[in-house]
Amino acid sequence: MPPAPSGLLKPVNGSRHGDQRSVQAAMARKKQGFPKMSACGKAVVLLPLLLLGCIYFFVYPKEFELQALMSSCSPPPGAYTAAPRRLAGEPGASRKPDFRLLIGVLTRADNYERRHLLRMVYGLQLAAGDLVAHVDIRFVFCRLNKDEQRVLVALEILIHGDVIVLDDCEENLNGGKTYTFFSAVARLYRDEPYDYVMKADDDIFFRLPRLVESLGEMPRQDMYYGATIPCDSMDPFHEYMSGMGYALSWDLVEWVATSDVPRNRTVGPEDRMTGQWLRLGRKGRNRFNAKPAMYDYPLPVPVDKCSHEFVPDTIAVHRLKDNPRWAEALDYFNFTAGIVPSKFYKIDFD
Ligand SMILES: *[C@@H]1O[C@H](CO)[C@@H](O)[C@H](O)[C@H]1NC(C)=O
Ligand SMILES: *[C@@H]1O[C@H](CO)[C@@H](O)[C@H](O)[C@H]1NC(C)=O
Repeated sequence: MPPAPSGLLKPVNGSRHGDQRSVQAAMARKKQGFPKMSACGKAVVLLPLLLLGCIYFFVYPKEFELQALMSSCSPPPGAYTAAPRRLAGEPGASRKPDFRLLIGVLTRADNYERRHLLRMVYGLQLAAGDLVAHVDIRFVFCRLNKDEQRVLVALEILIHGDVIVLDDCEENLNGGKTYTFFSAVARLYRDEPYDYVMKADDDIFFRLPRLVESLGEMPRQDMYYGATIPCDSMDPFHEYMSGMGYALSWDLVEWVATSDVPRNRTVGPEDRMTGQWLRLGRKGRNRFNAKPAMYDYPLPVPVDKCSHEFVPDTIAVHRLKDNPRWAEALDYFNFTAGIVPSKFYKIDFD
């Protein structure tokens, strides 16, 4: 049975058998936790988190204490209570995330190094434990086509469990991959839907706390969120959202998966096609333009208004196409601030 993609913070180096046992136990418990009773339904949202917490606790007791995320297998106190609940408004449910967000990073199987970087960048942000939403990051490819990928990507799946391999698409963003992604997500997560599903490039860096804060204020229905194209427009109804990263509410994801309108129009510049689907289908009546907080890497000579200097309230920086650019952005946003002096390394920061 293929492992279902789960969190980025799965234990990676416990004994193999220990891991399998705890995963099996976790799955068994998860099954029991799925009765059709509505009272228990609410617990289902928290269950995967709890199970992760339990697994993490047994494998990494030290780090666990350090992070002070939780001290037992009971729900993390306060981890998801920092903002008022806006989901179903059930008074009895406590510690429920404000909303659930899936970020699908559409990338190619061979981009091993970029995935390594992205896992660190998002893993650090998720580990901080300060998000009021449940956020999952998945790496999305079309079918594997090399023998080495079948081994090396399988290893990633075993360790990280954060990969989705789509059927029936070609590794070309303008050849229908986005359509296949949204349709597959509607099917794969039908039983546990997200509130928003984001399509993201692999050269964009999201600051999750800012993204969650911004998305959290949005309507949960008929919502189309991103950075408006053309670059000099701030009107989200003008054309469409840049392919760097845009989010659709779950009802729109389901609509994409079932309507004829997108099915007949899968090939073309993927971001413009998404905008066209919504216009033709009269969908996405709620829209939000996140510019200027979402922008392209500041080029010395900006080619258009999508690119500008780093700013403190950034939601996302796009066109981080090489390691120096990533390093520059991560440095600006103080990602290494937590590093402490040690006899094991010497790193000079200026
Ligand atoms: C989609 O294409 C089919 C076959 O060409 C056609 O019958 C149908 O009307 C089209 N639907 C839309 C919404 O364009
Ligand atoms: C990074 O840290 C410095 C020094 O503490 C601070 O002045 C700056 O505002 C921080 N930058 C961001 C983007 O938070």
